[in-house]
Amino acid sequence: MRKKLTKAIFPVAGLGTRFLPATKSVPKEIMTLVDRPLIQYAIDEARAAGIKEFIFVTSRGKGALEDYFDHAPTLEQELRKKGKTELLEILKDTNMDSGAIAYIRQHKALGLGHAVWCARRLIANEPFAVILPDDVIAAEKPCLQQMVEAYEETGGNVVAAMEVPPEKTSSYGVLDIGEDMGQMVKVKGMVEKPPAEEAPSNLAVIGRYILTPSVLRSLNQMKSGAGGEIQLTDAIANEIGGDDGVYGYRFRGQRFDCGSKAGFLQATVSFGLARAELRDDLLGYIRDVVQMDKAAE
Ligand code: UTP
Repeated sequence: MRKKLTKAIFPVAGLGTRFLPATKSVPKEIMTLVDRPLIQYAIDEARAAGIKEFIFVTSRGKGALEDYFDHAPTLEQELRKKGKTELLEILKDTNMDSGAIAYIRQHKALGLGHAVWCARRLIANEPFAVILPDDVIAAEKPCLQQMVEAYEETGGNVVAAMEVPPEKTSSYGVLDIGEDMGQMVKVKGMVEKPPAEEAPSNLAVIGRYILTPSVLRSLNQMKSGAGGEIQLTDAIANEIGGDDGVYGYRFRGQRFDCGSKAGFLQATVSFGLARAELRDDLLGYIRDVVQMDKAAE
């Protein structure tokens, strides 16, 4: 029988150079959309998908991330004294059960594949999810939950995929489609960052994966690829044609690339508009800005 998915790796050891100088002292994953850090969105999505063990691959300077998941006794006491039960409830979401969370250090930023490999002993011989917190996905049913349902039907390695405009393929891993089943595609090849004219499709991989432990064995054998980084895509591509195979899953939802400034700002607007208490003010402001912009033209 297929093993249940209970473990997720959150690779958060990158340098976040696109957000310098902020990321000099604030980990990218602690940056907030409205009032919740990116990592909270990722954790909530994992919980909804049935994840019980949360493995963070961290690096120097990510202390704020570890603190975020700790209890804050003085703050909690203060809120209790003031009868702020709603805020205490909100804080509860940030707490993790003892033993449910683990931190592993990636000592050198040798790429996403290497970061995942650093967690190999905690995964052992089980399937696992990989969640990149800078990809934030707004969806009615959380993206990883959709993928778990697909995985429970199909098995194998499942990567989240979305259609991108041809001129954007060079920013993504792109799938070569063997068989298109609609929501799912069977993958026959993966190309890392192809220019539009060389892309086998416009179906791009984004930061959600459900992987079999055999991917870790591939990573084990890998020497670093181009640019000295160990690529996760290469290790997943090794599974094509294997017993489990690789599938692309067209998730339902809107993905924001919060690793880029434009994507982060778009997410801020979108998540702001989704909040009933902010919507009217924010929408009014956006309308004013658009009108002023038109008038200036
Ligand atoms: P990015 O490609 O966004 O790199 O990594 P980055 O360092 O975070 O950001 P920039 O490009 O310098 O602005 C994608 C994901 O892989 C993780 C990152 O933390 C991010 O979640 N990662 C990347 C690692 O954990 N280790 C690495 O060596 C590289």
